[in-house]
Amino acid sequence: MFDVDDFVQESIESLQNTIDNVAIIACSGGVDSTVAAVIANKAVGDLLHCVYVDTGFMRKGETEQIEALLADQGIKNLVTVKAADRYFEALKGITEPEQKRKVIGELFIRIFEEEQNKCGAKYLVQGTIAPDWIESGGGVRDTIKSHHNVGGLPDDMTLEVVEPLRELYKDEVRQLARHLSINVAERQPFPGPGLAVRTLGELTPERVEVVRESCAIVEEELEKAAEEGLMELPWQYFAALLPVRSVGVHGDVRAYGETVVVRAVRSMDGMSARYSEIPNSVLQKISTRITNTVKGAVNRVVYDITHKPPGTIEWE
Ligand code: XMP
Repeated sequence: MFDVDDFVQESIESLQNTIDNVAIIACSGGVDSTVAAVIANKAVGDLLHCVYVDTGFMRKGETEQIEALLADQGIKNLVTVKAADRYFEALKGITEPEQKRKVIGELFIRIFEEEQNKCGAKYLVQGTIAPDWIESGGGVRDTIKSHHNVGGLPDDMTLEVVEPLRELYKDEVRQLARHLSINVAERQPFPGPGLAVRTLGELTPERVEVVRESCAIVEEELEKAAEEGLMELPWQYFAALLPVRSVGVHGDVRAYGETVVVRAVRSMDGMSARYSEIPNSVLQKISTRITNTVKGAVNRVVYDITHKPPGTIEWE
């Protein structure tokens, strides 16, 4: 049985014994990194520099929410790095999913190294959890996907990595978040590389914006449907943009837009998943709203009916 109180107490002690110098916290606003940040703040608050990198791949309104949340949790040294231009530049022309993840991970660490040089940090605290490293090979299994927290780490990294949540699964991290009154506790999981792994093909600000709007619509409509009792709220639900163009019509004009796929799954911990059944009326609303909002860019919306396995939850 996972004991939340014991875990917090032991983590604080362990962090206090490990961290004897300035530490940087990689905070993305997700449940994992926020819980890691709050526990580290309790353990070694004075030594802690919390860095939030705005990669340009965050969800709608997310940067502002994260800044407010971290301030509410009493984290004082928060630096927001606006890095969208650098990410788009580094990813120009890259479409292969593993390469995308590697580039994103490496740039993320470089940015942290720059912040490290500014504040003299020796440690990097990360919110890595068990499925992240199990699915990244871990010496036992084949690499399924290089997870952001693991695969992106370059060999020459000079920061010492500390991972207080390394042995935990998602449901345990959520319990911790509730215990610590972190209000991302009920929020659905979001991958480290963000909307970049939901934008298949080349990453441009325009295409990522389509994904951002589409994800917001999927979230809004499914949360509304769940509130109205039409369905159970899925464990994870989002949209991805496929570089597949098809012929359509907008008004009287021929359109040749891309395809948005809607994904919604039931799961316990992300290791396996079943696709969610969504009422037709809700799917219809999502489809209409997406094609109306991003006029011209998207003229086809499809629903993904693949379990994990064989599919993964994200498309890349
Ligand atoms: P997949 O797509 O592998 O995802 O079935 C399982 C869960 O992990 C999330 N995910 C990630 N989380 N860094 C993370 O911290 C990543 O690089 C990453 N990739 C996928 C995914 O959203 C799902 O909840």
